Amino acid sequence: MFQGTIPGPMRSIVREAAGRWPRGPVYVPCCGNFTIERSLAGLGFDLHSSDVSIYTSAVGRWLIRQPVGIRLREESHDELGWLADSLDDGVGTVATLMLGTRFLASVGREGLWHERVVRSYREQWKAKHAETVERLSSSDIELASYEVEDVRSWLREVPSDAPVCSFPPFYGGGYEKLYEPLDAHLAWDAPTYEPLSDGDVVEVLGAITDRPYWLTASNHDVPDLHRYLRGVVKATPRAAPFYVYASEAPTRIVGPRQPIEPVKVPRLREGDDLVGPLRLSLLKPGQFNALRSRYLNPRIAPGAANLAVAVRDGGGRLLGVFAMAPSTYTPDEVYVLSDFAVAPTDYPRLSKLIVLAAVSTEAQLLCQRAFSRRIRKVATTAFSNHPVSMKYRGLLRLKSRGPTGEDGWKFQLQYHGAMGEHTLAAALEMWAKRWGAPTTKTGV
Ligand SMILES: C[S@@+](CC[C@H](N)C(=O)[O-])C[C@H]1O[C@@H](n2cnc3c(N)ncnc32)[C@H](O)[C@@H]1O
Repeated sequence: MFQGTIPGPMRSIVREAAGRWPRGPVYVPCCGNFTIERSLAGLGFDLHSSDVSIYTSAVGRWLIRQPVGIRLREESHDELGWLADSLDDGVGTVATLMLGTRFLASVGREGLWHERVVRSYREQWKAKHAETVERLSSSDIELASYEVEDVRSWLREVPSDAPVCSFPPFYGGGYEKLYEPLDAHLAWDAPTYEPLSDGDVVEVLGAITDRPYWLTASNHDVPDLHRYLRGVVKATPRAAPFYVYASEAPTRIVGPRQPIEPVKVPRLREGDDLVGPLRLSLLKPGQFNALRSRYLNPRIAPGAANLAVAVRDGGGRLLGVFAMAPSTYTPDEVYVLSDFAVAPTDYPRLSKLIVLAAVSTEAQLLCQRAFSRRIRKVATTAFSNHPVSMKYRGLLRLKSRGPTGEDGWKFQLQYHGAMGEHTLAAALEMWAKRWGAPTTKTGV
């Protein structure tokens, strides 16, 4: 029901750890989307929650059956008067805020996209609002209390021996920005507090962990809490891990599991001559995972592929694989999620042939069929320790270069190019002329 970025296994860890605590009150500061409350539902605790944001406070007050106390700002009436009937100081207001997180940021902004977002919410408002009210009404979260209060003062007031369970901000600043579009159009009795500085965050962590029962989690590894590390949760190969720290609990490691299926096709090997014509064939997800695990650099975290394709030579031998997904923001573009060549072979530049095959007219047709749209362009990202990617150089255009957030790589390189400007046959011819010379075999 609520928006949330906390993976399911983490909720299980929270439930398991807190399940050992004595029944009674549990305090949940910085409760955000009520993930902790949802994880602990039905365990017999009295849940006392708090936060400072307009969104969380609307939900919190509604859950304890208090008037929500949020109204449209005077200056927003002209643009947003159509919301007025939905603001009923109860579940209707909460539903409006929830939907508001998706479109209020576009109100008053120039540009076709923003105008379209607001128009579509306005036109479908009645149905969307009624649907959200209905979903909210089936919520089973029960709170013993909710308070709008700064975590620093709240933790000084709650009993020092009562359990605290919280995912607080682990760095200063940031959360205030998240709900700016709601605050810009809606007025309420907002609390006054100083945004948390990095120093305050350390202090808050101290106040949480300085008690007999506690649990906290973050997407940052906190060296000072290492001896309390109870779980590491990585939901997908590309997701940032979550670290769970707790006073006491069993240790859990949750990693992504991918289906693997054997691929029986022969592969090009050392000593084999590559022969035309090239052919493309579709791979099942498990086959793609198996080949990716075998040939892709293990330091590159794989994403889920929508379309995975094997490139084979005239002898039916596998030369490599490319995997595509439709680009999110550019309708006629595909994104190359991964492309790699088999190894070892006698062809040191075989990976360039896979790129050429991935942008061929035949690949373009496969993409158009898979994604039901016209495809004209291709884009991809390379992680490299060099300022250019040797694989894409000469084939795609380097659009931007920046530092990476990924361990072990210096540069993140964005490449773009056209799709469908040559056939597979032309790709092989071009590659054979420029990059297809095999390594000379020295006598044994
Ligand atoms: C990481 S989120 C909480 C995640 C949450 N447990 C959930 O279920 O999604 C951090 C929360 O801290 C709140 N917050 C930020 N500064 C705060 C402060 N000074 N006092 C209390 N809450 C604060 C934010 O509004 C946000 O809801």
